[in-house]
Amino acid sequence: MSQIQYNFNKNDEYRTPAYAVYPILKRLKKNSSIWCPFDKSDSQYVKVFQGHGFHVVYGHIQTGQDFFDFPVPSCDYIVSNPPYSRKGEVFQRLFELQIPFAMLINFQGIFDQKDRFEMFRQQRIELLWLSPRVNYGTDNQRKNARVPFQSCYLCQGICKRQLEFDYLDTSLLE
Ligand SMILES: C[S@@+](CC[C@H](N)C(=O)[O-])C[C@H]1O[C@@H](n2cnc3c(N)ncnc32)[C@H](O)[C@@H]1O
Repeated sequence: MSQIQYNFNKNDEYRTPAYAVYPILKRLKKNSSIWCPFDKSDSQYVKVFQGHGFHVVYGHIQTGQDFFDFPVPSCDYIVSNPPYSRKGEVFQRLFELQIPFAMLINFQGIFDQKDRFEMFRQQRIELLWLSPRVNYGTDNQRKNARVPFQSCYLCQGICKRQLEFDYLDTSLLE
């Protein structure tokens, strides 16, 4: 396994629960292919999509697949929960790739930063707002810790309307 040096940031390690994958899953074409670029085999994106017949390609910085360098696999969608500390660069690259995407993000301050505001202003984006709040797990076993922020999916080419709302069924486990 190749190892890449990267700056570990504990705020980048919030892990998505299975129930938060379903609002996106139901908006995708059946049997399509999905790239999950911030995910290992134990990611709920990988497990839930595979379990529902999607073709999934995944990769993670810890397994040598840096999203910013890795050759883009052939896919219909890019879906994940990205490292929050690099969200500006992540969205910049996603807009350049022009592949429909959905990213679960910490919504707090997303449009505050001047360059990001300008980047989003020039794009047609979709927001998928979720209720209740997503409670993430973390690598240090704080499973379902109460997170102090609201998250939503920021998408392009996924939702019919630019602002959509959906309920989370928190009983769904894979
Ligand atoms: C917010 S976590 C989400 C993990 C997983 N996608 C999930 O939803 O459970 C983001 C992950 O991206 C990883 N990461 C950070 N920089 C990366 C990069 N350049 N390329 C690929 N993965 C990266 C982090 O180590 C972290 O595990």
